Amino acid sequence: MKMKTARIHAFGDASVIRFDDVPRPRPGAGDVLVRVAATSFNPTEAALRAGLLQAFLPVELPYTLGWDVAGTIAGIGPGTEGFSVGDRVVGRLEGAGAAAEYVRAPGALLVPAPASVPLTHAAALPVAGLTAWQAVFEHGKVAAGQRVLVNGAGGGVGGFVTQLAKHAGAEVIATASARSDRAVRRHGADHVIDYTAGPVVTALDGPVDALLNLVALSSRDAAALASAVRPGGRIVSIATPVEPPADAGVRATHMVARNDAAHLAALVGLVDAGKVALDISASHPLADLANVHRLSEAGRIRGKVVIIP
Ligand SMILES: NC(=O)c1ccc[n+]([C@@H]2O[C@H](COP(=O)([O-])OP(=O)(O)OC[C@H]3O[C@@H](n4cnc5c(N)ncnc54)[C@H](OP(=O)(O)O)[C@@H]3O)[C@@H](O)[C@H]2O)c1
Repeated sequence: MKMKTARIHAFGDASVIRFDDVPRPRPGAGDVLVRVAATSFNPTEAALRAGLLQAFLPVELPYTLGWDVAGTIAGIGPGTEGFSVGDRVVGRLEGAGAAAEYVRAPGALLVPAPASVPLTHAAALPVAGLTAWQAVFEHGKVAAGQRVLVNGAGGGVGGFVTQLAKHAGAEVIATASARSDRAVRRHGADHVIDYTAGPVVTALDGPVDALLNLVALSSRDAAALASAVRPGGRIVSIATPVEPPADAGVRATHMVARNDAAHLAALVGLVDAGKVALDISASHPLADLANVHRLSEAGRIRGKVVIIP
């Protein structure tokens, strides 16, 4: 049986995304077949599509896009345990992606999807949520009473970072433009600085314990933001590295998120407990994926965008 996929056969601009009919995969040992309810767009995939990640994330072409998956189990491979057909699951894929009607995935990558939100929304969680979890808790060590600056709070990762830092009990200062102001306040930000209105540091009222940077910065802007962190504080960047002056006594980490089913399950628990909301700004059919890449590259995406096959 055939299924629709969104694949790239070459690296380049968004026009390299093709919509191919390919055979529906069969789950191998340890795998399941997931009927995809949705994937979500992550801007790092646009960088992969452009060929910018070949040095540290080489992929074979043709390559099916869509690292996030939410869907239902449609088949179970030999020896795969813990799943029944019809189970609702969510996960971050490695290898073949979920910009397709079906995807084969190792069962170990999947966890039960949140029960309180539609599967099409749950697809927003894995990549952005895992990145946020590891930035806030593992690297940022954000704790109750700290003052935390979230730079880029309006984006897909930023929505989760803001909510997780609040969940940890921090005072959150978020940077956002007018279009994301309401959303970041809804996520619990105590103060919002409009980054389009002038230098962020001049709007800060005193130093912060941690800077969580989620946007690409010029070296000048990075240095200015780094100067806002108190001695003994922490900087975590998921985008451009942000280095403090050598004698500042600030620990800086430039992180790459990893897959971790336990972290994902914990995020699902927070969603079902009503502690973390999914900031879905748009939903597009699979056939629109190239356009979503273009919108992202033009800076016209905020929050999370889900893609429905
Ligand atoms: N290292 C890792 O493991 C890892 C993992 C995931 C993502 N990433 C990278 O991290 C970055 C963020 O990912 P994402 O999914 O959150 O991206 P995204 O959703 O595309 O982020 C878009 C948001 O960035 C905000 N923004 C743009 N320029 C800004 C600036 N100068 N100051 C403050 N905010 C600004 C905008 O906020 P407004 O709406 O407020 O204007 C916009 O909503 C991307 O570069 C992505 O490739 C890295």
